Amino acid sequence: MKIQAIRGVKDILPDEIEKWQWVENKAHTVFARYGFKEIRPPIFEKTNLFSRGIGETTDIVEKEMYTFDDRSGEKVTLRPEGTASVVRAFIEHKMYAAQIVQKLYYLGPMFRYERPQAGRFRQFYQIGVEAMGSHHPDVDAEVMIMLMDFFKSLGLTGLKLQLNSLGCSKCRPAYRETLKDAIREHLSDLCDNCNQRYERNPLRVLDCKVPRDKEIAAELPKTADHLCDECNDHFQGVRLLLDSTNTPYDLDHLLVRGLDYYTHTTFEVSSSDLGAQNAICGGGRYNMLVEEFDGPPTPCFGFALGLERLISVVPFDQAGDFEKHPDVFIVCLGEEAQKLSFTLTHQLRSEGLSVERDYDGGSMKRQMKKANKSASRFALILGEDEINSGKYQLKNMSNSEQLEISADSCAEEIKKQL
Ligand code: HAM
Repeated sequence: MKIQAIRGVKDILPDEIEKWQWVENKAHTVFARYGFKEIRPPIFEKTNLFSRGIGETTDIVEKEMYTFDDRSGEKVTLRPEGTASVVRAFIEHKMYAAQIVQKLYYLGPMFRYERPQAGRFRQFYQIGVEAMGSHHPDVDAEVMIMLMDFFKSLGLTGLKLQLNSLGCSKCRPAYRETLKDAIREHLSDLCDNCNQRYERNPLRVLDCKVPRDKEIAAELPKTADHLCDECNDHFQGVRLLLDSTNTPYDLDHLLVRGLDYYTHTTFEVSSSDLGAQNAICGGGRYNMLVEEFDGPPTPCFGFALGLERLISVVPFDQAGDFEKHPDVFIVCLGEEAQKLSFTLTHQLRSEGLSVERDYDGGSMKRQMKKANKSASRFALILGEDEINSGKYQLKNMSNSEQLEISADSCAEEIKKQL
């Protein structure tokens, strides 16, 4: 029976993984510069963490979660996102007690039962960042600047940062009513989905993708025009900081995001090199979520980016040499050399070199072909003569220059050439 991977999930094969690791390493490096530390929450959690955290009326909770009863009958869910888990961990481990802004990031698979298409998977990877413990606009701006810094380190240009503010629990209820009043007169023209959203989650009407609905939404009241003074000050503060660092952005009053926990600033980064699923990253402020899970008042700001989408637009051809190549490939001719190559490989590796060899030996031509294919920088050739004389041949694979090196100081001599 031929078994294939489940629809909407994919293997990341060895040929691609170096790109992934390169991007992930850039994230580790850039985020560390801004004082962020990695956290690794579990991949599954109690279902109500997500249904309460993300919002009962969101598409994720209503239609997309992988939820099942475990063997004890407990309802568990494969995480559709990381923020709720980080909030749970923050409270469970009393990370608030440190009284500093906790700067955390995570990397790993998320699961959503969405309709698979280009750039949309049922298992996909995110890198997420959460800064927990300050409402200051500096945090919003700094986290977005860090993100743009990360994109720059990958050589990405042409990305669009879109910004909005969704207000807070003081100003949003009144805006919600104003919005509902305005939507009411268009209900017969809006899609079925929007008709349902109108009652339960009217802000989501703003980001409907149906072309006719988009036209209507563009004329609806804007959140940014209905912010209370405090939200307005905060939003202006964030914008000034972005301006002061020449971080370009566009205001997008239709940007409401698909998760319910957001307050104040929201943002998305998209790429024109992607098709319909062009959002590489999304995030914003969520000041109430920690409290909603019975933690102390903790204003937070964060984002998550989709690694599949990101990796598909990184210009790897301009990234210099990010692939890992073996330092040396051992070519051994004859039985003695074959035996010696096992211990020599071991010795060179223990001296810190990355070494490949052909386990099955064969002709010089065949082994050199394999050395070429492995993209090793050098081939170390040992045959009967070399073993007897205690001198090996070291061939530079890029210019074919050959050099005799002493068997006794083989590792040092190779290192000198690297
Ligand atoms: P999100 O917008 O749901 O936000 O997801 C963030 C990113 O994950 C998207 O912009 C997209 O690149 C990627 N993504 C989402 N769904 C899929 C999919 N089915 N296939 C491929 N990529 C996908 C969040 O998850 C929030 N937790 C972000 C956040 C963190 N807000 C505050 N802190």
